[in-house]
Amino acid sequence: MVESHLLDLLRSRFSAAIATVLGDNAAPIDPLIRVSQDAKFGDYQCNAAMSLAKRLSAKPHDVAKRIAESVDLGDIAEPLEIAGPGFLNIRLKNDFLAAHIADILAGSDEFPGRLGVAPTAQPLRVIVEYSSPNVAKLMHVGHLRSTILGDVFGRVLSFIGHDVIRQNHVGDWGTQFGMLIAWYADHPMPSDSVDFLAATEEDYKLAYAKFREDAEFAERARLAVGRLQSGDPDARCVWQQICRASRAAFLATYRQLRVLLTDEDVRGESFYNGRLADCVESLRRLFPQREPGIPTPSEGFAEFREDAGAQCVFLYDAKGQPRYKGPDGNELPVIVQKKDGAYLYASTDLAALRFRAQDLKVDRIIYVTDARQKLHFQMFFGIARLAGWAPPSLRLDHVTFGSVLGEDGTPLKTRDGQNVKLHELLEEAVARAAAVVDENEARRAAEPGYTPLAAEERARIARAVGIGAVKYADLSRDRNGDYLFSFDRMLSMQGNTAPYMLYAYARIRSIYRKAAERDSTTASPSARLTLSAAAERALALRIARFGEAIDIVAADLLPHVLCAYLYDLAADFMRFYEECPVLQADGATRASRLRLCDLTARALRLGLDLLGIETIDRM
Ligand code: ARG
Repeated sequence: MVESHLLDLLRSRFSAAIATVLGDNAAPIDPLIRVSQDAKFGDYQCNAAMSLAKRLSAKPHDVAKRIAESVDLGDIAEPLEIAGPGFLNIRLKNDFLAAHIADILAGSDEFPGRLGVAPTAQPLRVIVEYSSPNVAKLMHVGHLRSTILGDVFGRVLSFIGHDVIRQNHVGDWGTQFGMLIAWYADHPMPSDSVDFLAATEEDYKLAYAKFREDAEFAERARLAVGRLQSGDPDARCVWQQICRASRAAFLATYRQLRVLLTDEDVRGESFYNGRLADCVESLRRLFPQREPGIPTPSEGFAEFREDAGAQCVFLYDAKGQPRYKGPDGNELPVIVQKKDGAYLYASTDLAALRFRAQDLKVDRIIYVTDARQKLHFQMFFGIARLAGWAPPSLRLDHVTFGSVLGEDGTPLKTRDGQNVKLHELLEEAVARAAAVVDENEARRAAEPGYTPLAAEERARIARAVGIGAVKYADLSRDRNGDYLFSFDRMLSMQGNTAPYMLYAYARIRSIYRKAAERDSTTASPSARLTLSAAAERALALRIARFGEAIDIVAADLLPHVLCAYLYDLAADFMRFYEECPVLQADGATRASRLRLCDLTARALRLGLDLLGIETIDRM
């Protein structure tokens, strides 16, 4: 097998060397290969000598020396250098690096078009559950982050070779529908349009106010919930209309955002309705009250009990102490059925998890929601584990993110305190991007040989830049933190922004285009690569490290790592382009540099595509 990237290649060579140093029957040891932080220390380092020294009761420096003597690096690296107490600095040979990116990355290998990223050897069936807005309500900025982040997880995991099942756990069930059904018995339903959700959201507020003031209406609303749940055709019909129109509005937003969710991925809360009763009954059977005195299992236990009329599951640790307590110090249960018989958010999540594990037979579920839901997920994961619905082989990840803040540092709201409407936000992004495109055009108009962009071309670019900017602004920051939503910042041509990245891509494409127009023979994809200038070498090494960034995104679900990589790649390219003439160079140098341009563009495009961002050839 071809090692998918340099890090893997070095790991396997150094592991073998360490095994030799340790002798035959030693367990494999992580060779601790790290990327060097400073070019002085080479490209990579092997840091294993320090910990091995203790084990071998030898000096780290001597162990490093023994590793260096045993490792078979062939043509890969220059002679190793031992630095400090026993760091091994690895500097790749230029010829090796050139050949590596030429063959492995350019697509002549086993994995064409993957820039050296091998498909995983252990493909899993993975659910990525994301977006999950509530019907009859506008998607708010919290759903924006879930939608954008979740989409990247889906793209990256399926790129790596996992079998990804996207799930949109739409909130389409619950007591609020009683109010809406009762309301729409007396009022016209909004027509299917983009504004449908805005209108139903307003209607819901009115219905809720009436519910609190008007006892007769409240009674009708309560009855409507029952009718809906028992399948009454009229109630169902109103509910279905609301769901259908909401879904159409969500899909329009997904399309606008270039998010891969489709209608088929929608499996809303209502889908699990028929499974809730059995789910609750199973929990009752599985978690009887414990007799006092029997020892508690190390994983803790759960108890199903009625509390103030509600059916609850209480969780305990290995010492028999409550795992969760409320702010009042009382133990905090998961309520699975209310006093009036209604099921809750948690009951649906338990039923959904059970369905996914048992019917969809998945190996991993990734839930993408804001950090405020942490406790809910912890608690129902805990129940699912103890119930055996989530066996140890099923990996559960609750992937959270911080809030979107406005320029004033508080959660993003409109001036009158309303939630920001997502489609308005996106339209504004596109309009502002159009202004940036116009400015660029005005600047270019003065250049010799200027050909104006057609109006629809400009509009397409504005869309790519505007939507790309919103997505990239979100993705380029560590998702664990809050992030400040600023149009000015996200649309800036400077810094780690979508316009900067898209511009870098378009610029490289134009260099390549010009060269190919002038002389098609030198723009050949099989031209020999030579890396003589430092900037050429740095760029080549960066390109070769594409797979490392992808690995981190896939392992830790942190898209900002890929953004940071692409930003570094663009910066390395700019440095290369300043220091190394491409079009003016002649013969073999020109051909080699054009290939570097081409590879950079391909890495940028693939990277941005995995982030769900559309590239454009001109900007
Ligand atoms: N509909 C929920 C909300 O808007 C998000 C659902 C998250 N997923 C889940 N399985 N609970 O907050």
